[in-house]
Amino acid sequence: MTAPATTAPDTDGPDGRPPAPDDSFDRDVLPAPPGATAALLRSLLAPMRARVAVTSLLLLLQQAAVQAGPLLVAYALDRAVPALRDGDHGPLIAVGAGYLLCALAGGALQYAFIRAAARVNQDVLLDLRGRIFRHAQALSVDFHERYTSGRLISRSTTDVESLRELLSEGLQELVTVVLSFVYISAMLLWLDLGLGAVAVASFGPLYLLVRSYRRRAGQAYGRRSTAIAAVIVRFVETMNGIRPVRAFRREAVNDAGFAVLNHRHERANGDALLEMARYVTGSRLVANTAVAGLVLWGAYRVADGTLALGVLAAAVLYLRRLYDPIDRLGMFLNSYQSAAASLEKIAGLLAQVPTVPEPSVPRELPPLASDLPGREVVFDGVAFGYRTGGEVLPRFDLTIPAGQTVAVVGSTGAGKSTLAKLLARFYDPTAGRVLLDGTDLRDLAVPELRRGVVMVTQEAFLFSGTVADNIALGRPEATREEIERAAKAIGAHDFVAALPDGYDTDVRKRGGRISAGQRQLVSFARALLADPAVLILDEATSSLDIPGERAVQRAMGTVLKGRTAVVIAHRLSTVEIADRVLVMEGGRIVEDGSPADLTAGTGRFADLHRAWRESLA
Ligand SMILES: Nc1ncnc2c1ncn2[C@@H]1O[C@H](COP(=O)(O)OP(=O)(O)O)[C@@H](O)[C@H]1O
Ligand SMILES: [Mg+2]
Repeated sequence: MTAPATTAPDTDGPDGRPPAPDDSFDRDVLPAPPGATAALLRSLLAPMRARVAVTSLLLLLQQAAVQAGPLLVAYALDRAVPALRDGDHGPLIAVGAGYLLCALAGGALQYAFIRAAARVNQDVLLDLRGRIFRHAQALSVDFHERYTSGRLISRSTTDVESLRELLSEGLQELVTVVLSFVYISAMLLWLDLGLGAVAVASFGPLYLLVRSYRRRAGQAYGRRSTAIAAVIVRFVETMNGIRPVRAFRREAVNDAGFAVLNHRHERANGDALLEMARYVTGSRLVANTAVAGLVLWGAYRVADGTLALGVLAAAVLYLRRLYDPIDRLGMFLNSYQSAAASLEKIAGLLAQVPTVPEPSVPRELPPLASDLPGREVVFDGVAFGYRTGGEVLPRFDLTIPAGQTVAVVGSTGAGKSTLAKLLARFYDPTAGRVLLDGTDLRDLAVPELRRGVVMVTQEAFLFSGTVADNIALGRPEATREEIERAAKAIGAHDFVAALPDGYDTDVRKRGGRISAGQRQLVSFARALLADPAVLILDEATSSLDIPGERAVQRAMGTVLKGRTAVVIAHRLSTVEIADRVLVMEGGRIVEDGSPADLTAGTGRFADLHRAWRESLA
């Protein structure tokens, strides 16, 4: 991004500016170890090595069959026609049959080649798309907070597509051109050393042309691919944020920003096309000069009697065939280059390792101490800072006994959500350990961790599918009865039953539209059904209206019963059901006690409590 040097550094402020860009994530290509791109290509092709070999062989044979044509013409002119004058039809019939055979074999081989190549291509692309999705999904939350979904989309669409173009068209053409260069040069040199030399001499200027084109068009294509990625990113972000865009009347500003990116893309595209035009003109000039020279010189030699007419005819035919695909060579090189750039970006993405890695020796949680689901949580010398900034949580210790409900309060930015995210292991602490019944979260197998700790946030995201599917997310094997029981316990049953298809209503379809508050009820039911040892509610009731929240409040008793719970609250009613209250300020726990004790005291919580009370009055 180019920003005037005079503006203040970007902050993630309420004005909607993007967060401060961080090192590599600013660029479109994530750093990958050297050789990663080639290694990726190898690993994609390795499983189909045999099929690649067969495909290449088919192409080799096809070229041999096709390139025999002019040679047969030379033979017909120089041998078969004189023989015919002597009344011998044999050679001409042989040539005719040979020509037909070559044409048929060439066609059949081409058919077989295209089929084989298409299969290989499809399998490579299938594999690659799958890898991108699986890898992106496995990467940690902090990756996704920085690498936008627009970029991910552009990786698995535009970039995979440019590889598809290369594999399905470019590569075949490129190999065909190179093969025919080799075949034809050899054939010309064998037919007549002098004529062969003319053809080979034309390779010099052609090579220079191709080289300069590659360099200049390569730069233009690089700019183009960066520009199109920026266009996609802007598009996705704007549409994802369409509500704030409308609310803050950002349309005109967005239009202007988008127009800049759109024009940048257009200019890069124009530059690339201009290079193409120069290249095509130059290469045609070289090719036609060579053909003219060859015809001129060859004609004199035929008149001299030092060159057979058939050989000259074959040489002209070969030369035309040689130069024909040169125009397209430029395009293949383009697709090669843009595919190489795309592959590099994909390789960079695939080279990212999760910052929250799975344990190499996963451990199980010990059996529950009682028949209640709760487990003890210990923050042992934990400190934490996000990668992009300074320390957010200075070193602290905290023990939450099994089954305790802890309310965490504090002003915005105090570090409440950060504490919760460490407990859910969205991040690992920079120092110290988070223990669940004595086991470090880092040592827990992922399914074990997800059963152990569940976090419900304000977003309450629903996936496409039915309401029942969405409730069963944390326990896919749950029966319909269990799903309904969870919904009833949380007070979601009535509204679900009133939907057009009840629990089978598709949440993305018409009629399945459910409100933010209802979404939150669904995500509560989901958490209840998942039956975790530790439940974290991060402002999870903030989208509910007062009656809705009252309903949840009643249900909360059911949900939290016996569990260890961390409830980040902004309303008094939530705090009152807690056994213990933590007040956070500037990343530190500044007060810790029972609600009654803290209310009776003179600290921040007492102030807060008074303010809440007054606001209710
Ligand atoms: N993903 C992030 N990357 C960098 N800094 C973050 C991130 N999330 C939160 N922060 C910062 O950490 C601090 C604590 O934030 P948070 O835990 O979300 O506070 P709270 O939930 O109490 O409002 C804030 O200063 C915030 O700017
Ligand atoms: Mg928060």
